[in-house]
Amino acid sequence: MPCTCVVGLQWGDEAKGKVVDVLTDHHEIVVRYNGGPNAGHTVMTGNKTFKLSILPTGVIRPNVISIIGNGVVINPTRLREELSQLLKNDIDIGKRLVISDRAHVIFPYHVEQEKITESKQGQGIGTTGRGIGPCYQDKVGRVHAIRTGELHQHTHLKQRLDSVVEFKNKLLRGFNPEAVQFDPEKLADEFHEHGQFLKPHLANTVTLLHQEFKAGKNILFEGAQGSLLDVDHGSFPFVTSSNSITAGIGSGSGLPSRYVTKVIGILKAYTTRVGKGPFPTELDDGPDGIGERIRKIGREYGTVTGRPRRCGWFDAVAARHSAMINGVDEICVMLLDVLSGLSELKIATAYELDGNRITHFPTDSRELDRCKPVYETLPGWDEQLTTVTKITDLPASARKYADRIGEILELPVKLISVGPDRSQTIFTGRV
Ligand code: GDP
Ligand code: IMO
Ligand code: MG
Repeated sequence: MPCTCVVGLQWGDEAKGKVVDVLTDHHEIVVRYNGGPNAGHTVMTGNKTFKLSILPTGVIRPNVISIIGNGVVINPTRLREELSQLLKNDIDIGKRLVISDRAHVIFPYHVEQEKITESKQGQGIGTTGRGIGPCYQDKVGRVHAIRTGELHQHTHLKQRLDSVVEFKNKLLRGFNPEAVQFDPEKLADEFHEHGQFLKPHLANTVTLLHQEFKAGKNILFEGAQGSLLDVDHGSFPFVTSSNSITAGIGSGSGLPSRYVTKVIGILKAYTTRVGKGPFPTELDDGPDGIGERIRKIGREYGTVTGRPRRCGWFDAVAARHSAMINGVDEICVMLLDVLSGLSELKIATAYELDGNRITHFPTDSRELDRCKPVYETLPGWDEQLTTVTKITDLPASARKYADRIGEILELPVKLISVGPDRSQTIFTGRV
């Protein structure tokens, strides 16, 4: 009973969406287990581009069942917007979308709450502003949390919101006398209507997943964010609020993580990051620099917020840390085409921290901020890679570069991606 996970090994946006889409040919079920509408997974097929934030990437394949697990936080408005976008592209999900009745709901007050912390001088971490942190805070805090399974029960929802909204309104006004105030009755009506819409999709996805697992279905877990944004193992506090690593599968879906038989780690051939936080290999080298060149060629702008992504060389110290905590079996090297035309390329294999050479990823983000990368230099290549389909047709330097990443991480390279389209994928045949 094969059970696979696709997980990002950097700071998100590693092109997980593309890999999930490529792999869904061989899977019957795709499951999101963490995060929420902070994710932005892009899939290009022929002349169509899909940007999915909350829906699992499986939704664009007609035979795939998509499950949103209990570990995901859901903004019903955004979910419905995404479904409408898909309908415009003649994709009617119908019964193929199943949502956990235990998933937590993002309310507008979560977004307002986040505005306060993000705007406070020195406190903001550069979030996507989607209310992710405050919603997970309420989940862990328990008292103010509301789950999808509660939305369609109008009287109950109204009672819950009466007390929650009183608290939230006071909190918001406490920081800003001009703050928006919410009306519990209106909110209850609005979210009850969402509840009615969601009801046919809601299920105990834990039971469902176990049934499907026992029936021998091929299940694919789609990680959101990246391992360096994991709340426990990432560059804390500049992280998201969920466990994006494979450990999040057990808690975020109810299927034990140990049932996962293959972990596929996704890496860009370089590194990017959106939002604040340390980034040792960042190329902050001006408008004519390599950082800007990568941003332009790789179209490195956030899918969710449109923010320019910070770009830098491949960081093998960080990637090794991620491969270790996820138990990665094989890797995919993405966006290799973006590096064409550079005379030489660098890979950080160690850091120098306060005069000492280290090869581990520091716990303290202030230490990570002081780390200077120790680079190994490899030759570049001039050829464009976007039409290459066979590993043997890659220029020798490009192949050597991808191989070197696998060698440093001591992991086989499953595939190399040379463009956003499904067809621009080179299977190495090594796994
Ligand atoms: P995700 O969040 O990990 O799914 O990644 P995103 O979708 O946010 O960002 C990856 C971006 O790279 C998307 O715009 C993809 O269409 C694009 N992409 C994926 N693979 C390749 C590739 O091999 N080459 C290039 N140039 N772009 C790619
Ligand atoms: P995908 O799934 C890249 C970043 C934000 C910010 C930090 C916290 O597309 O790879 P949050 O809104 O989660 O509280 O923000 O995490 N972030 C992402 N960066 N890709 C993502 O998702 C991200 N999701 C969150 O930019 O730095
Ligand atoms: Mg993304």
